[in-house]
Amino acid sequence: MPSILSKRLLIISNRLPAVIAQGRETWSVKPGTGGLVTALAPVMRENHGVWIGWPGCGDDAPLGSLLHEFEQQQGYRLVSVPLAEQEVERYYRGFSNSAVWPLFHDLLGNCHFELSHWQAYDAVNRKFAAVIDEQARSEDFIWVHDYQLMLVGSHLRAMGRSDRLAFFLHIPFPSPDLFRRLPWKNQLIQGLLAYDQIGFQTLRDRRNFVQTAAMLMPELEIVSRQRHHTLLRLGERVIKVGHYPISIDFVEFDDFARSREVEDAAWYLHENLRGRQLMLGIDRLDYTKGIPERFLAFERALEKYPALMRRISLLQVVIPSRTLVPDYANLKELLDQLAGRINARFGQPEWVPIHYVFRCLERVQLLARYRTSEIALVTPLRDGMNLVAKEYCASSVENNGVLILSEFAGAADQLGKHALLVNPYDTDGTADAIYRAFTMDPEERRQRMAQLRSEIRRNDVHRWLRRFVEAGDDEDDDG
Ligand code: F6P
Repeated sequence: MPSILSKRLLIISNRLPAVIAQGRETWSVKPGTGGLVTALAPVMRENHGVWIGWPGCGDDAPLGSLLHEFEQQQGYRLVSVPLAEQEVERYYRGFSNSAVWPLFHDLLGNCHFELSHWQAYDAVNRKFAAVIDEQARSEDFIWVHDYQLMLVGSHLRAMGRSDRLAFFLHIPFPSPDLFRRLPWKNQLIQGLLAYDQIGFQTLRDRRNFVQTAAMLMPELEIVSRQRHHTLLRLGERVIKVGHYPISIDFVEFDDFARSREVEDAAWYLHENLRGRQLMLGIDRLDYTKGIPERFLAFERALEKYPALMRRISLLQVVIPSRTLVPDYANLKELLDQLAGRINARFGQPEWVPIHYVFRCLERVQLLARYRTSEIALVTPLRDGMNLVAKEYCASSVENNGVLILSEFAGAADQLGKHALLVNPYDTDGTADAIYRAFTMDPEERRQRMAQLRSEIRRNDVHRWLRRFVEAGDDEDDDG
């Protein structure tokens, strides 16, 4: 297959795509498992790409040799941007995850705006830009990722770089009315407009951005609006703004879900269910994921539909994340309380309504749960995309799963037609969807899941990558 990119790829993200861990005696490094890493790795190898990011490990790790080992194994180079504890506190836990993250997920009540956090964000973005400036050659495809690094482009411009710069936002972009609550709104929009290509997950995010930029920058001209892109002009520069819904490697999930080890693990899970349906929730610990709301909807379903008693269990896996950010620690406590209360209210001998697990899952165990669960509850209050929804369908090789999906997940744009769409703030509506999924006949399940799987197979992460890169490569194209 011809390469999708003739240039060297320079990827910049907050974290490096490597998991660095300390064993009893030695340190180890292996590639991360996210969809982005999977999609980019072949192109990175082919063109000897470079990935720049924060290693996220302590100072005691032998970083030089670990990064070297990674390069030998993976065929592309990692360049580290080390951060001091105060930078992590203010830039990462502070501005990125206590201001931008809640604001961009429409949760103004969770926002903490602090000048020192904003200043640290700006300074760390400058630090990333300085590393790019050292590493970048002319003709590289320079691609910055996500909300932690929105100002990197403007710092590169201030350093005199005129290279083509691309940016992709993995999380939603809020409405102009929400965005303008940010005390540093003008600086952030100007920062984003320093990129030449800006990608969003959905058409709604792209429109929100264009409207916000036009509201805050009267000198910005909207040159044209096409199906996939809007072209903006700012002075001499033309900026291409598009939407490119990210996805997963469908074939990888589908193949692995059919493997012997996953099949055995799924069989074992099923044996223990004794004829009950399993409803699955898998999320990072995050208040945007709507997990308490989901517990309450399940409680409502048990009240409203007694036929569900003893016949269904919710397995909620919560993956520890950002636990040093206060709102995340509070959420953990709330989930413990809610699960305890609901189980005490409805539980019976040999039936626990909610199995709540707070830890990471091995990949085999994850896919076994995807494959075994008759229902997946993916009900974020807001989400850029939500890849769990896509992973669940790709792993539902028996074609009998029902996806209950929040209308506020980016994935609803592609999967909404064949999933059961819910508003996670509507407890009764979500309870009704749970009952509907539980009672859905096998033929309807099969038809819906077949459609979901074929959509994800067609629009996989490789297509996402190709679309973004080709849009960036062809500077004259505006269609
Ligand atoms: O998609 C949002 C995101 O912040 C990614 O940038 C990141 O890879 C993931 O969630 C996990 O978050 P963190 O790096 O804060 O643990």
